[in-house]
Amino acid sequence: MVLSGISSWISKIFQRICMSDSRLYVSFLRKKGAVVGNGTVFFGHVTIDFSRPCLVEIGRNCIFTDGVTLLTHGFDWAVLREKYGEMVSSSGKVVVEDNVFVGVNAIILKGTRIGKNTIIGAGSVVTHDIPSDCVAAGNPCKVIMSLGEYYKKRKKDSIEEAKAYALELYKKTGKIPKIEDFWEEFPIFLKRDPRWGTLPVKDQLGSAFENFVKSQPTYGSFRDFLLAAGIPKEKLKSVN
Ligand SMILES: CC(C)(COP(=O)(O)OP(=O)(O)OC[C@H]1O[C@@H](n2cnc3c(N)ncnc32)[C@H](O)[C@@H]1OP(=O)(O)O)[C@@H](O)C(=O)NCCC(=O)NCCS
Repeated sequence: MVLSGISSWISKIFQRICMSDSRLYVSFLRKKGAVVGNGTVFFGHVTIDFSRPCLVEIGRNCIFTDGVTLLTHGFDWAVLREKYGEMVSSSGKVVVEDNVFVGVNAIILKGTRIGKNTIIGAGSVVTHDIPSDCVAAGNPCKVIMSLGEYYKKRKKDSIEEAKAYALELYKKTGKIPKIEDFWEEFPIFLKRDPRWGTLPVKDQLGSAFENFVKSQPTYGSFRDFLLAAGIPKEKLKSVN
């Protein structure tokens, strides 16, 4: 009895350690028997229900952000047990197909499938199947737009957002922003020349790297970008 208690504590501590590191968590889940595809990452504190590991199927290149919970069972039957004197179990497979992003604190409930190339909004509660190639959000989680529409929207808004961020950085710190501050925004201004210094260009772009190299930036230089953001010209003398 004492030994089984100790082993359960050790197992819980091991689980906590694994949950703090994405690669460890992936191998922990796979050892338990869940399917987790290559390239899938878990950021922060993600909870994947492994009470029935064979009911968890996560595809390749998925991103689970902080606070996400995926459940394959409901312990709610405890209420029925007390009321009706019977144990009526509850479980269901959860499938998350390839290239799915799950926003902060979303909850994916048992018996659901999320199609490939789909974005699940922060705080959503997934109670039904969600199709491929869309953005879905809310409680209950519903499709709010197609992935194509979202792509167009981001293409339209992202440059203005990056400029607003640059200006805010300048206003708040009184200093000229550094190129390293733009580790998601750099395609807007970075020369397609491999001497890009400390920016993690290849790591960030991943499979989009080849396209990036062949493309053209919106602004010819970092200086032009900062100028367009509204930072005074006289402050940019030392910036290329
Ligand atoms: C889902 C998401 C991608 C949509 O982004 P967006 O295109 O900017 O969305 P919009 O603000 O145009 O919203 C469109 C509609 O969906 C609703 N909506 C957007 N996100 C929502 C969410 N998470 N939950 C509920 N409703 C949401 C909006 O209220 C809006 O509704 P309306 O048309 O009735 O006004 C985004 O809101 C989101 O949740 N991103 C995830 C953020 C995150 O978790 N980041 C982690 C970083 S590690």
